[in-house]
Amino acid sequence: MQSAIAERLRLFVEAGIAVTSELSLEAVLQRIVEAAAQITRAPYAALGVIDRSGQALERFVTTGISSGQRAAIGDPPHGRGILGVLIHDARPLRLDDLAGDPRSVGFPPNHPPMKSFLGVPIMLRGVAFGNLYLTDKEGGFTDEDQDLVTLLAAQAAVAVENARLYESATRWSRQLESLNEIGSALIGELELDRLLHLVATSLRELLTARVVAIALPVGDEMRVEAAAGEGAELVGWTFPRARSKAGRVLARARPERVDDVLGDPEVEPASARRLGARAGLYVPLLVRERAMGVLIAHDKETGSGAFGDDDMRLAEQFAARAAIAVELSERVARDALRRVVAGQELERRRLARELHDETGQALTSILLGLKGVEEASESEPVAEAARNLRELVVATLQDVRRLAVELRPKALDDFGLVPALERLVQTFSEQTGIDVQLESRLGDERLAAEIETTLYRLVQESLTNVVKHAHASTVSIVLVRRDGKVTAIVEDDGRGFDQAEARRDGLGLVGMRERAALVGGRLTIESSAGAGTTIAVEVPVA
Ligand SMILES: Nc1ncnc2c1ncn2[C@@H]1O[C@H](COP(=O)(O)OP(=O)(O)O)[C@@H](O)[C@H]1O
Ligand SMILES: [Mg+2]
Repeated sequence: MQSAIAERLRLFVEAGIAVTSELSLEAVLQRIVEAAAQITRAPYAALGVIDRSGQALERFVTTGISSGQRAAIGDPPHGRGILGVLIHDARPLRLDDLAGDPRSVGFPPNHPPMKSFLGVPIMLRGVAFGNLYLTDKEGGFTDEDQDLVTLLAAQAAVAVENARLYESATRWSRQLESLNEIGSALIGELELDRLLHLVATSLRELLTARVVAIALPVGDEMRVEAAAGEGAELVGWTFPRARSKAGRVLARARPERVDDVLGDPEVEPASARRLGARAGLYVPLLVRERAMGVLIAHDKETGSGAFGDDDMRLAEQFAARAAIAVELSERVARDALRRVVAGQELERRRLARELHDETGQALTSILLGLKGVEEASESEPVAEAARNLRELVVATLQDVRRLAVELRPKALDDFGLVPALERLVQTFSEQTGIDVQLESRLGDERLAAEIETTLYRLVQESLTNVVKHAHASTVSIVLVRRDGKVTAIVEDDGRGFDQAEARRDGLGLVGMRERAALVGGRLTIESSAGAGTTIAVEVPVA
């Protein structure tokens, strides 16, 4: 008798050590079940973990039942019948005959028969975490069994808590490591593609998501720039901005969690099916509240695939870093473009000056010389030849001056935007016969040189398009300054065009947009076939 008690005690201590020496929750639960079976000598033991609702079981760990038997039984119990009694009333429950109890709902087919029953709750800080169940002990369970299992349950609670803490601590440190890695990459890595790929890959791992992708807006579409997981081949895929969930999240600049993708009216069923997506996270890449793109995650590998609040927070952290990467690369591209444009203007100014001063002077001298020859000549054929030459030189001189002005009008530097445009418009009308009205409501104050140049070039390019494409008879140009913004509007009454069909490789409109963007401005085009064209540029001014 004495030795039997000693033996049970030894088993119990061993069980306690085994349970508390595991670090993963999965292994802890399995050890608890095995220990409970061992110390009570019950053939079957199980542990049911109660779900968030507190009404049903989300996990069921067993011992004594083979995997084959488990498969034959089918779904694990959800927590009805006797198991439900313990869920709702967290107190030990002991029965001699399970099936004989009126609260029992019976066993499913293929379930081994079980007679005696002992159930004990595992309490974590006053809340039932789950229950330990032992069944079918020969002769039934004793008071002593109940005491020992209750003690084990208390130890199990500590072990569960530890494992949870450990798991969240390792999760945290892995998240920190990843975020750090991306932080250093942001400093060292210049290739946007590679940065976004790193963000997608690390986040997918941490979320245990099936796929994580990053899409950036390109015109009125979204383009997948990076993807990790099952969707890796999505890179390069484009979809419409207006009719996609990601596009809408981009427009709203607010993250969203969708537990049932197919049930969301904003999700395009075709693309959801293409991805086989059930649940999704859509997080905008925000820089100063502006959305630069959208990070998309689909289907957690566990449970229903839905993401939780923690997942959302993590995705937001990663999206913030991706946003910085996108913004940096845009800024680098913008700086490069700005330098090119500034260099171009400088070069044009130099060429214009050279044409005007050097070439213009030389031609003027030739003109004077020819005049001398013409006057001094006594032979009529020579005088005639000199006259012809002189006309040629006059025409060339005009060409040179026109070219110089086109390259870079001196008036733009010396007198400002409006006088320069007045000259441009006058020459344009003379050459094309198109009537142009220029109206300026800018006042006398000069604008920043960069803005004046930009607006001048945009009007110049618009007029070039009018001659080339519009077949217009009149053009109106209006300049307005209001609410810290200068707007230039060029409107023609020509044949207009369909923007969807306009050539996209035309450098004109694209270049105009870029130039406007360089000074923080925006270009809008309104045009339809037969209805003329209106180009408006809006630029913020200090
Ligand atoms: N004012 C306009 N009137 C009619 N069509 C225009 C006008 N401006 C632009 N377009 C159309 O848009 C297209 C793209 O213009 P752009 O980018 O300047 O390229 P490009 O002038 O080299 O053709 C033109 O080919 C033309 O079809
Ligand atoms: Mg053009």
